[in-house]
Amino acid sequence: MAHRLLVLYGSYRSDRMGIRLANYIVAGLRARGDEVELIDAKAVGLPMFDRMYKEYPKGEAPAAMEDLAAKIRGADGFVFVTGEYNWGVQPGLKNLTDHFLEEWFWRPAAIASYSAGRFSGVRAATAWHGTLSEMGMVVISSTLAAGPIAQTLDESGAPTGDGGKSLARAFPRFADDLAWWAEAARTQRAKLKPPY
Ligand SMILES: Cc1cc2nc3c(=O)[nH]c(=O)nc-3n(C[C@H](O)[C@H](O)[C@H](O)COP(=O)(O)O)c2cc1C
Repeated sequence: MAHRLLVLYGSYRSDRMGIRLANYIVAGLRARGDEVELIDAKAVGLPMFDRMYKEYPKGEAPAAMEDLAAKIRGADGFVFVTGEYNWGVQPGLKNLTDHFLEEWFWRPAAIASYSAGRFSGVRAATAWHGTLSEMGMVVISSTLAAGPIAQTLDESGAPTGDGGKSLARAFPRFADDLAWWAEAARTQRAKLKPPY
């Protein structure tokens, strides 16, 4: 059964590279029959938030935030495309993620990291694992790691070279893992109302 999945990416840099990985994942999940939407914080024009979504009186959140809240609530699962800045997370994606909370609950999250180097952003991926768990998502154990990103995916998001081959080999298990948990969580939510 098709799952509704959001792929979230939050670099605001002019010459950003992670969009290649985000596009690759969107295309790969769509090819499996899922309904996939890319949430690109820069393209949506999300500002630095000064209040959580739930802190606004009902109906008074900024339109972009209201729209995003509905998309998050309606999704069966999430893929976080995470780059690494100075061994840490990217502020744009953290800003997007932090200002919602209950909207994320009771769904799986997958982490796909990348960087300019061979470590593929794994230090940021490790930081995201705890953050996403804290925010009520079940973080799946399969990950994708692309690095060096420039030698793994071309501008259109197509795999290149040995890095691209290894990414393409890892993708099916990553997608299967996410689909299994998305299905499990959706079935359980339908069967039993979440406890909080
Ligand atoms: C401010 C900054 C800090 C960075 N820190 C790291 C780092 O700690 N580790 C790493 O592997 N790459 C680091 N890089 C290189 C990034 O992996 C590379 O620029 C990547 O393309 C960033 O993602 P983006 O292009 O989607 O913004 C850094 C890049 C920037 C701009």
